[in-house]
Amino acid sequence: MIKKGIILSGGLGTRMSPLTKAVNKQLLPIYDKPLIFYPLSILMLAKIKDILIIVNKGQLNQFKNILPEKNNFGVTIHYKEQLKPKGLPDAFILGEKFINKSNVAMILGDNFFYGQNLSKLLINCAKIKKGAKIILHNVQNPELFGVAKLDTKNKKIIKIIEKPKKFISNNAITGLYFFDNNVVKYAKKLKPSKRGELEITDLIYEYKKRNRLKFEMIGRGAIWSDAGKIEDLSNVSSYVKSVEKVQGIKIACLEEISLLKKWIDKKKIA
Ligand code: G1P
Repeated sequence: MIKKGIILSGGLGTRMSPLTKAVNKQLLPIYDKPLIFYPLSILMLAKIKDILIIVNKGQLNQFKNILPEKNNFGVTIHYKEQLKPKGLPDAFILGEKFINKSNVAMILGDNFFYGQNLSKLLINCAKIKKGAKIILHNVQNPELFGVAKLDTKNKKIIKIIEKPKKFISNNAITGLYFFDNNVVKYAKKLKPSKRGELEITDLIYEYKKRNRLKFEMIGRGAIWSDAGKIEDLSNVSSYVKSVEKVQGIKIACLEEISLLKKWIDKKKIA
């Protein structure tokens, strides 16, 4: 089982300026909680409770106020500052010490997942021993994401492109990845792309070319959104509000997840 997870919460959030001038994007509210609670809850549902959060230089205290290293959520949190955004694979270079000899999951701090069979899917993904697993979701605007083209007959990925200009498929690669320990070595070998960043799709390709890449599809019963733009933030907020109001439940309630996993007891919650 993968026991370690990284939440990448850097980035300048320029698409959300001026909201992000003083506060990091991942700390903005999605209805009743900070955005980062949602990806954190996803790692927790995958039974991952040793967590490294990568944040921008100078923003550590903002995060620590909300998610202290010693907390009541039943998880261990470590922090690492990123001097400047260098692309998603940089997380594995910055996180080398934390990862050590383990396999590792990574989730982007602005990714929202919700759905009925998600827990089962997550726990399954965390079982990988060798190779990598990515999670795909059908979208209408694939040009905004990393995209995978599938050979559906053989359940194989045949092509991966970051933000394709020409249509190849509707399967967006979501910001949740499960990797074996080779990820650090492969990340270090990557060269920046034309836009000057290390690309997650190039890292995933390292696994594909070795025939070590698997995927899961998020079906119709679940949703995924990259809340990177103001419109997404507002849409996801309304979605969470509706579900919570109608069903009388809480999405991404960290204490509840932890209690159900028996990482904390009722006394701690009280
Ligand atoms: C990043 C990745 C992309 C992925 C997306 C998911 O894009 O580069 O492959 O599909 O996250 O949220 P960004 O949001 O940085 O543009």
